[in-house]
Amino acid sequence: MSSKPILTSGIRPTGEIHLGNYYGALNNLVELQQSYEAYFFIVDIHSLTTHPNPEHLSRNVLEVARNYLAAGLDPEQSTFYTQSSIAAEICELHTYLSMVMPLGDLMRCPTFKEKAKRHPDNVNYGLVGYPVLMTADILIHKGRIVPVGEDQLVHLEIARTIVRRFNQLYGEVFPEPQPVEENAVRIPSLNAQGKMSKSDQADSYISMGDEPDAVRQKIRRAFSDPTRAYKHQPGNPTKEGCNVYHLHSYFTDPAKLAETAYKCRRAEIGCAECKTVLAESILSLVEPFQTKRAGLADDYVLEVLRHGGRKAKESAGKVIAEVREAIGLRMF
Ligand code: TRP
Repeated sequence: MSSKPILTSGIRPTGEIHLGNYYGALNNLVELQQSYEAYFFIVDIHSLTTHPNPEHLSRNVLEVARNYLAAGLDPEQSTFYTQSSIAAEICELHTYLSMVMPLGDLMRCPTFKEKAKRHPDNVNYGLVGYPVLMTADILIHKGRIVPVGEDQLVHLEIARTIVRRFNQLYGEVFPEPQPVEENAVRIPSLNAQGKMSKSDQADSYISMGDEPDAVRQKIRRAFSDPTRAYKHQPGNPTKEGCNVYHLHSYFTDPAKLAETAYKCRRAEIGCAECKTVLAESILSLVEPFQTKRAGLADDYVLEVLRHGGRKAKESAGKVIAEVREAIGLRMF
């Protein structure tokens, strides 16, 4: 048994990832795997709230698993599985937790209200209970640490409420999970409109699946310093002054970046040359990822998930036994 704190992290099974997701996830993963006893799981049951096409769902789960493995998730160090591989335990715990969670709080939850407003024709029971299912994901391993983006903080507050109410009724069964802010790197979009996002048009972000030439082309068209109209004008290589410089600051090594900025300031190079440097810096991240990803056969990915599922089931089984005992379901 490891004495490191237990961390749980759910991953949504949405297929494609972009450079911003990858950069953030990679940095987080490497750090978290070492500091915690980590459980990473793909939340395929949660995704059913929006009724994904069954073929797409199973394909996406596999793709997401492959992405995380290519990004450096180490299935020996961490437990990596699909939520549905411990469906019995998760759904059972979810039911018990649902009995202590006030419905009013769930219906007032801002994420629920927003989804209900956006899709009034699909306000299902599972959607209201989404945070309770998420709590089950965490508590099934007695998770203490949950890396979350800002949007998930309200769900973690609900998880903490559930723990307090449950423990009040049945004794100190669960620890109160703590959020740790994800290393929120906001990689700017190529068109300088906020951060990189898949919901924007395709040429505003680099997909980790883009061919090298597509990456080069997107960077060539990226928004740079709007005040620099001609090559003979000196540029303004600062994060605020030039979106391309801002991107460089994440991906280009400091010495190379200093040299490029120096030449830009002296109008020795134009934006085209500067963008070539950026494209190569980004490709030095994208290409090894693609090579690694291509080398992960379906059978291997499935075997990793099966192995993780077995480890998760063992941990979940212990907690479920303890919960049943605590609540008085102890006839057999
Ligand atoms: N709700 C999270 C999201 O949308 C995913 C998630 C499900 C999760 N269960 C979890 C995250 C448990 C952390 C812990 O991103």
